[in-house]
Amino acid sequence: QTYNVAIVGATGAVGETMLSILAERQFPIGRLHLLASARSAGEKIDYGAKKIVVEDLATFDPKGIHIALFSAGGSVSKEYAPKFAAAGAVVIDNSSAFRYDDDVPLVVSEVNPEAAKNRPRGIIANPNCSTMQMLVALAPLHRAAGIERINVATYQSVSGAGRSGMEELGKQTAAMLNFQNHEPGKFPVQIAFNLIPHIDEFLDNGFTKEEMKMVWETRKILGDDSIQVNPTAVRVPVFYGHSEAVHLETRRKLTVAEARQLLEAAPGVEVVDERAAGGYPTPVTHAAGTDAVYVGRLREDISHPRGLDLWIVSDNIRKGAALNAVQLAELVVKERC
Ligand code: A2P
Repeated sequence: QTYNVAIVGATGAVGETMLSILAERQFPIGRLHLLASARSAGEKIDYGAKKIVVEDLATFDPKGIHIALFSAGGSVSKEYAPKFAAAGAVVIDNSSAFRYDDDVPLVVSEVNPEAAKNRPRGIIANPNCSTMQMLVALAPLHRAAGIERINVATYQSVSGAGRSGMEELGKQTAAMLNFQNHEPGKFPVQIAFNLIPHIDEFLDNGFTKEEMKMVWETRKILGDDSIQVNPTAVRVPVFYGHSEAVHLETRRKLTVAEARQLLEAAPGVEVVDERAAGGYPTPVTHAAGTDAVYVGRLREDISHPRGLDLWIVSDNIRKGAALNAVQLAELVVKERC
């Protein structure tokens, strides 16, 4: 059996990776529609040996689509996802538009796959990239020892801000190396050779929305409102791959040996943890272009009796977005077999 698939936002950083991951994993595609705005309608995109013409979302008829992967921003999802669902498609939405709705499951394929089955609105939400990689690694530790509190600082690459984020880092870097100026556009201040402790909008409590996504989504995905999460989200001048310094407090003490054992057995996780130069994951040496969530720098917190420190790195466009979306599509397909 094959499935008619639409990618909404197919010309974007996540959309193009959705397409290549569908091909890599030999997803059973019948008809394939690549959708974007009127700006890029008519462009051609390679899919294997074929060239597929990009269609305008605004005039596209979703009838007959079985699975729609959305990654074109929240306002596009809000307007069009319900229309695709009403036409019979299962929508897998990468935006934050529906993530916090009680009747929309929020699913990490390795963590809570069973939740994807209960989707009264025909929509499954794909989590935020930082939450996604953090929970692939932390869910097995939570199950074993009960996480009470997570302190996390993120180091998030510019591809998380889409294609224009990558362009800005590239152009600014080149300009500065040539002693020229390149004004910030996508990011609030200069990103080249800099760090920006500000992603998404500021909220009333002083946290940014990107930070609060990690609080809300961790609780929803793990199904445990008692977990405390204290995040700082930082944009860094890296093209692909988010990193996270995580400090956990668990109900029962987890030793490094036990944590390592749990992580080595966890689906989607690779432990890279030798206490030597290069014996830890980085975005460039491990994550970019790959599927795993890498964990290193495991150590027991010297300031807390039940604390554990770890460093988590993953490709934000792949596991953090496109790969998980395709894995959710695979779950939907499996239900129907
Ligand atoms: P387009 O290329 O036509 O602008 P990124 O996250 O890399 O910036 O990509 C965003 C994706 O969402 C692109 O594919 C973009 O298409 C698409 N998109 C943005 N706004 C709309 C819209 N109003 N309708 C359809 N697609 C949109």
